[in-house]
Amino acid sequence: MQNEACTYVIFGATGNLSKVKLMPALYHLEMENLLPKGSKILAIGRRDWDNEKWIAEVREMIKAKTKNGIDDAIFKRFSERLSYFRVDINVANDYVKLAQELNANATYPSNMAFYLAISPEYFADVTERLSKAKLLEENSGWRRLIIEKPFGYDLESSQALQKRISRYLKEEQIYRIDHYLGKGTVQNVLVYRFANTMLEPLWNRNYIDHIQITHSEELGIGTRAAYYDDAGAMRDMLQSHLLQLLTLVAMEPPAAMDAESLRDEKVKVLKSIRPIPKQAVNAHAFRAQYSEGMSEDGEKLKGYLQEDGVPADSVTETYAAMKLYVDNWRWRDVPFYMRTGKRMAKGQSTISICFKEPPLQLFKNTQVQCMSPNWLLLGIQPEECIRMEMTVKEPGLEMRTRVSSLDASYRNEDERHTDAYEDLLLDVIEGDRSLFLRFDEVEYAWRIVDPIIKKWAVERDYITTYPAGSWGPKECGRLFEKEKQCWRSSLTPECK
Ligand SMILES: NC(=O)c1ccc[n+]([C@@H]2O[C@H](COP(=O)([O-])OP(=O)(O)OC[C@H]3O[C@@H](n4cnc5c(N)ncnc54)[C@H](OP(=O)(O)O)[C@@H]3O)[C@@H](O)[C@H]2O)c1
Repeated sequence: MQNEACTYVIFGATGNLSKVKLMPALYHLEMENLLPKGSKILAIGRRDWDNEKWIAEVREMIKAKTKNGIDDAIFKRFSERLSYFRVDINVANDYVKLAQELNANATYPSNMAFYLAISPEYFADVTERLSKAKLLEENSGWRRLIIEKPFGYDLESSQALQKRISRYLKEEQIYRIDHYLGKGTVQNVLVYRFANTMLEPLWNRNYIDHIQITHSEELGIGTRAAYYDDAGAMRDMLQSHLLQLLTLVAMEPPAAMDAESLRDEKVKVLKSIRPIPKQAVNAHAFRAQYSEGMSEDGEKLKGYLQEDGVPADSVTETYAAMKLYVDNWRWRDVPFYMRTGKRMAKGQSTISICFKEPPLQLFKNTQVQCMSPNWLLLGIQPEECIRMEMTVKEPGLEMRTRVSSLDASYRNEDERHTDAYEDLLLDVIEGDRSLFLRFDEVEYAWRIVDPIIKKWAVERDYITTYPAGSWGPKECGRLFEKEKQCWRSSLTPECK
């Protein structure tokens, strides 16, 4: 069944997110015939552009992101949905004009999704102004607001933002995005865990030694110094993306796949995480910053302090790692290690689960002195895969072992990769909030990292560095509970 037509009103349409993600994703939805008939996309910007100029810009945005070139017929159909309207988001009267444009023009469907692809400092003001212009009232169709990350800067500011926007919107109208939670990621982890009976009995403290979650990026901060230097890796990635992945790995099976059941279970995990007291921050968290280094291809890479727009004395972390415990029956005392960093050796998102070692008594008089533990590896991006490492005997007369990897990859080469934004933009139209964050999820996630960011905010004399292009600072190993534990970076068997 096709969804009802809607109007996507995109604030910040001329910005980077719109250019690299939103417009290409909407175009792909057009290609797949997934945009409801009659739907419109209204770009909001402060530049003095008209529709024609906007359509030409969109064509360039899509061209830059489409490998096989633009299909003229599809683009024509897409461009019929596009228009541009000038609004300065700080000028109240511009919202009155916007309301007139949307109300007077019958071609705009009255179901409306307002996408705030703008700096977070404007989220509350724009919501308030949309409300004052009566654009959030659901008299003749639904009204939804999509808020980009980050939702707040810390616990207090996220609560303040929530307080303000909830004056004008019901929770059901708010779609807080964490685009790392596109359907692929969430559904793959859930299907893998809950559709495979053989895993469930092992998925707990009795069999799992520890869990690692890594999100590494090969790129540096690029042109985003103004945002990044204020945020840092803990806020930018760990508080949101990595904690979300943790909830998916650790949660109990939800009663159903609907938004509330799923989010209830995720919140239970966040609530069970053992709080980190101020005096234990150093034992649970580690930060570092990239210095000059070398890429794999021998290219010289700048250090963070040499990047454009970064203050010379900045101690903002470009790498953050954390050790957490989930204090419930399933996970008590199993460490969850998480790390994220920019300018690392490789860009990837992975979940690595290390099982406990089997008793080796049986092999005591053989050449099998030490066996690798079983690992279960979930590649989230760029490689989507599920691998289970098993110990097997090496061929030959001697009793030697090696690691063999069972691969249950789930995408064939000819199967199209959909960008998370395609899923999420469509979910908004469908009113499916399961992949969007409920406020309590955001709030609990901030509660977990708040003691760390507070401590780091006052300790500003020194920060450890790691060479750009490496796997991060060696010193971070101090987070590990046991000598045998160390970061797992590869999805293929690692030789020790
Ligand atoms: N870029 C990403 O990859 C990315 C990824 C994840 C999340 N996000 C989030 O997405 C949001 C947007 O990020 P971005 O990187 O796209 O930012 P950006 O490139 O700086 O774009 C900001 C947009 O806001 C518009 N704007 C600023 N002041 C305005 C005003 N007074 N009136 C009307 N429009 C105004 C800008 O218009 P002009 O073009 O005229 O300046 C521009 O279109 C942020 O919340 C960010 O955290 C971005």
